[in-house]
Amino acid sequence: MRVRLKGDAICTLLLLVALCSLLYSQLEHLVPVGNKEPTKKQPSVTAKIFSTPRAPWRPMPAEATVLKPHVTPVIRRPEVANNRVTTTTRPPLTDSAFNFKRYLLNKDNRNFNLLINQPKKCRKTPGGPFLLIAIKSVVEDFDRREIVRKTWGKEGLVNGEQIQRVFLLGTPKNRTVLATWETLIHQESQTYRDILLWDFMDTFFNLTLKEIHFLNWAAEFCHNVKFIFKGDADVFVNVENIVDFLERHDPAEDLFVGDIIYNARPIRVRKSKYYIPETMYGLSIYPAYAGGGGFLLSSHTMKKLSKACREVELFPIDDVFLGMCLQRINLKPILHEGFKTFGIVKPSAAPHLQTFDPCFYKDLMVVHSLKVAEIWLMWNLLHSPRLSCTQKKQVKKPFQWKKKAQVTPQASPLS
Ligand SMILES: *[C@@H]1O[C@H](CO)[C@@H](O)[C@H](O)[C@H]1NC(C)=O
Ligand SMILES: *[C@@H]1O[C@H](CO)[C@@H](O)[C@H](O)[C@H]1NC(C)=O
Repeated sequence: MRVRLKGDAICTLLLLVALCSLLYSQLEHLVPVGNKEPTKKQPSVTAKIFSTPRAPWRPMPAEATVLKPHVTPVIRRPEVANNRVTTTTRPPLTDSAFNFKRYLLNKDNRNFNLLINQPKKCRKTPGGPFLLIAIKSVVEDFDRREIVRKTWGKEGLVNGEQIQRVFLLGTPKNRTVLATWETLIHQESQTYRDILLWDFMDTFFNLTLKEIHFLNWAAEFCHNVKFIFKGDADVFVNVENIVDFLERHDPAEDLFVGDIIYNARPIRVRKSKYYIPETMYGLSIYPAYAGGGGFLLSSHTMKKLSKACREVELFPIDDVFLGMCLQRINLKPILHEGFKTFGIVKPSAAPHLQTFDPCFYKDLMVVHSLKVAEIWLMWNLLHSPRLSCTQKKQVKKPFQWKKKAQVTPQASPLS
């Protein structure tokens, strides 16, 4: 009995020792994590932010010297984001499709060479052109440029006013394409004299560079222009309406008109194309900005913006970036109902309504998201001598559209 008891006691003791050592070894694993956890709660975001831009600077002294003058702005930003630490318990911002770290590192590199220029673009007419049409395009999209040239983007007189045109291009991201396209784009430039090509990679996130470079180009080479329309190549623009509208404005005054988006919130969903982490933009609302399809500005505003944008930190969404520049010069962009930068959507109450009707387009200024053939067809229909829209009642007076409900984001009008 006693022996058994002793045996039991030893057994229990052994078990206890085993349990203790097990616990101890577990603790060793747990302790560092446990130590990290509470500290992570508060300065974690700072740590994340700082580790992102900082880490690569140390092992690369060559780059550090380049980045030296810009250390302060990078550090300034996290402080803004710091206030929101309590609301964020996100994992590090690494697995996003867009490399924010690299963007932050490179964002001070914002001056690229102009590879193809059109220095005489605005010198052809005495007093300068009335309207310069500037269209964002990519080298590969020759067919889109061609259709714009032959339709709404024609150079020449509209209502007696001189119209000029340029396409804004960067270098193709696919270098194998560049090899063959380099000669072609020079050829195209020789033929049409409407190509501006800059030496930065033409990507979605580099569109802000396009914005800056275009404004600088316009201020330098086209300062005598009266108004500018800047837009995408997949829009239909009713230039007659635009000229008519602009003739009632003074180019020496501020003017910025488009499909203005107010109180847009930064998208914090990481899978989105427009995802912006709080480290990059800490505020909850973007300044008012024009939807990408196209907008109008006066010569005066162009000059002010070209200066203001130089002082604004690069932001990967070009429309919002321009909104930030507008905010900097304290200029309120004007919403105009004639700009349908999300395309035209058939009213759900009348799905049978034919939106691909020239009379529908007759009173609009800019319609976004059109296919090449649709632009071609619409332009020809609108300019047909047989076009008669008198009996249409849905659009009575030009620019009086108040049916906001017909516009819904992300919808493509005609597909
Ligand atoms: C680049 O373009 C070439 C030729 O058009 C194509 O074969 C290749 O797949 C492209 N590469 C990438 C990465 O898109
Ligand atoms: C923008 O262009 C530069 C210069 O070509 C390139 O190094 C950079 O990777 C591009 N950035 C993005 C976000 O595409």
